[in-house]
Amino acid sequence: MSSITYRGGSLHVEQVAVDDIAREVGTPFYCYSAGAIRARYEAFVRAFAGVDASIYYAVKANSNLAVISLLADAGAGVDIVSGGELTRALRAGVPAERIVFAGVGKTRDELSAALHAGIGQFNVESGAELELLAEVATGLGVTAYAGLRVNPDVDAGTHAKITTGTRENKFGVDIARAPELFDRAATLSGIRLESLSMHIGSQLLDLSPYRSAYLRLREMTCMLRGAGHRIDHLDLGGGLGIGYDGTMPAALDAYARIVADTVGDLGCRLGFEPGRFLVGDAGVLVTRVLFTKPGADKWFVIADAAMNDLIRPTLYEARHRVVPVTRADARAPVRRCDLVGPICESGDYIARDCDMAVPDGGDLLAILDAGAYGAVMASTYNTRPLVPEVLVKANRFAVVRRRQTVEEALALERVPDWLADRPGGP
Ligand code: LLP
Repeated sequence: MSSITYRGGSLHVEQVAVDDIAREVGTPFYCYSAGAIRARYEAFVRAFAGVDASIYYAVKANSNLAVISLLADAGAGVDIVSGGELTRALRAGVPAERIVFAGVGKTRDELSAALHAGIGQFNVESGAELELLAEVATGLGVTAYAGLRVNPDVDAGTHAKITTGTRENKFGVDIARAPELFDRAATLSGIRLESLSMHIGSQLLDLSPYRSAYLRLREMTCMLRGAGHRIDHLDLGGGLGIGYDGTMPAALDAYARIVADTVGDLGCRLGFEPGRFLVGDAGVLVTRVLFTKPGADKWFVIADAAMNDLIRPTLYEARHRVVPVTRADARAPVRRCDLVGPICESGDYIARDCDMAVPDGGDLLAILDAGAYGAVMASTYNTRPLVPEVLVKANRFAVVRRRQTVEEALALERVPDWLADRPGGP
């Protein structure tokens, strides 16, 4: 991503030196480029110029209020999956009609809150949810606009934990059940089911699964129309991948061609739900090296960021590139290194078997492509407070989430009085 580059040997996010941010906020921290996010969004819009298309940013990828707000200002809607994300989206200024609510397990309270807010669409993932949504909407005297998430039985060919479109899957309903559910919806009050949605998986670089999936969507759209149902909107999901190894992200023009070839002539409004593609390579996680030590065959670089801050490497075997914030001396010998954190688990690593000059204690390292599914998936395991997030725009930066304190984390907990009564208690 050209917004994250070296200038005079020092890593910059846009025009701000990462070093300067570290001095002010401490480490570890996440840092995002507003310009890079905006540019990606605009490229997406351009790819579908002339098409009746809406982009619903999947806020699960990075739900910081500032990030949502910058995309909302650019014109994006959002895809949410919880009542918490609904509150965030509204707080960030996303107009309710530009919100799409997905997810297999929406509660009555969440459906009710979203109906109160007047969101644009619910992507319903089961017959039982359809009934509940109709009931809640009828009770409130409103109409829910809904789409049915169908499962096309297409393997997205990505990591097993992020593929969602195969047949036996908790997401959506088997596409063959769509006619039955549309028939049922037609008899319910409070709901208008006029859309189909799908999302086959995440981090797709080979786009051919989209073609197969969208062809199935096309087939079902025609079949439902033939049975007298109105389908005026297709939500094509997210999933476009980025080049974690430094190669190019998924090709937007090729993707747009697949969309045009498969569902372009159906006269439907189209919705897209990109997450990672918009924010993934616009962010870095910055960490400070604490110690280094030689192992049997490689070096261990022990840093202050850990699996609780970035879980992707250990959860998905994801490989994120690691670069020094101050460019290493080109003559320094390159060694095989594991970048690990202080957590008491051998699964606590950020990068394994990467070849780099062994840094010194105190050096800063940047973990690239950490803008998506980074800060949002962090935990406080080992009582490590959540780290700050920083947003850069041109030559300015702001802390858009401050560092949590240990006291704040502990404030949620209490020791019950009756514990003192236990045998052997104080
Ligand atoms: N729409 C739906 C219904 C989804 O479930 C997802 C992601 C998206 C859109 C956005 O997908 P994207 O464009 O970001 O690929 N934590 C994993 C990724 C989980 C994706 C979950 N669903 C990771 O770090 O790779």
